[in-house]
Amino acid sequence: MASYGARSRQRRLILPNPSLTETIMRVVSGIQPTGKPHLGNYLGAIRNYVKLQDDAIAAGGECLIFIADLHAISMPHDPAELRSSTLELVATLVACGLDTNKTVLFNQAQVPAHAELQWLLNGTARMGWLNRMTQFKDKSGKNREGASIALFTYPVLQAADVLLYQATHVPVGDDQKQHLELARDIAQKFNNDFCSDAEPVFTLPEPYIPPEAARIMSLRDGLAKMSKSDPSDMSRINLSDDADTIMKKVKKAKTDAEPLPFEKAGLGGRPEALNLVSIYAAVTGESVDAVLRHYGGEGFGRFKPALGEALVEVLSPISERFNALKQDRESLDAILARGAARAREMGGGTLAAAYNALGLVRG
Ligand code: TYM
Repeated sequence: MASYGARSRQRRLILPNPSLTETIMRVVSGIQPTGKPHLGNYLGAIRNYVKLQDDAIAAGGECLIFIADLHAISMPHDPAELRSSTLELVATLVACGLDTNKTVLFNQAQVPAHAELQWLLNGTARMGWLNRMTQFKDKSGKNREGASIALFTYPVLQAADVLLYQATHVPVGDDQKQHLELARDIAQKFNNDFCSDAEPVFTLPEPYIPPEAARIMSLRDGLAKMSKSDPSDMSRINLSDDADTIMKKVKKAKTDAEPLPFEKAGLGGRPEALNLVSIYAAVTGESVDAVLRHYGGEGFGRFKPALGEALVEVLSPISERFNALKQDRESLDAILARGAARAREMGGGTLAAAYNALGLVRG
């Protein structure tokens, strides 16, 4: 039985059926269009989409990044807002450095194979596996009976998203690790149940989680994840925030009264201080210990302005590019249409192989 958390499973990369793909490195990841993208999304995931698009090309592979609009309907939503936030997210991703000549950028809704493959995988995924998913427990809260079925089966769609393209590398923050482990378990069970050893249909995907920014925490509570759904806008830095707003949010961030320690061990039991120092380290590319060698013994009165400035330096060019791109709806639509056409081609072989392995006749 699958055990989530303590992982003892095999880490060998299983290469896919060579007739389906000849690629060694295929990067695939998704991001939901609900709410405003924030610093946690950027440091935990988007920055690595940009890095891995180049790594994939250098390795002769491909990078596919999609807007998870099908996932967004698992929670109550406003259709008009979903439409406009999908296009704004395209503008954000391009502003962050995704290059549509290198990356296939699209939205799930234009590639029906995601939903089709989810249905095929629903036959393999087990209730017990889904019952253990912490996101469903968190998002449904006390209202389990009132939660949508889409929220429950959400991780199976996420598995379909990556398995459809034979993903090898999936850049995500730490909160998505459990979903990726589930995707591996579904792939493994499907391959075992329906394929010969020589011709597995699915590749087992590997999560790519940045150690320095795996989980960026709220600016108001160092124990809660920075999140789009936090009702307080002061809890997060949005990628569209201007310099004044960023400085204000950092200055108001919750801290304690102690000066910064000289070593990382001294941040134990100080979640807010650890979060701010980790953000500084992730943004500047320094290690936490190097940051503390510089700022150890200093109070937050000196550290916070330095953190605010480091953030403004990285985020200002992004918000400027975003503001320039977001008005041009036609170009954003065209990016999605072009990406979706390519994604439909790329997923076709695996979808057909999955139907075939299950004994389904498709005409
Ligand atoms: P989403 O839209 O919540 O977040 C997008 C990405 O940002 C990362 N992230 C964070 N990283 C560090 N610190 C944080 N505070 C933080 N908040 C968010 C997430 O880990 C994610 O990588 N289910 C996914 C979307 C999805 C997907 C997929 C991802 C759908 N299909 C297939 C990968 C592969 C989600 O809701 O991410």
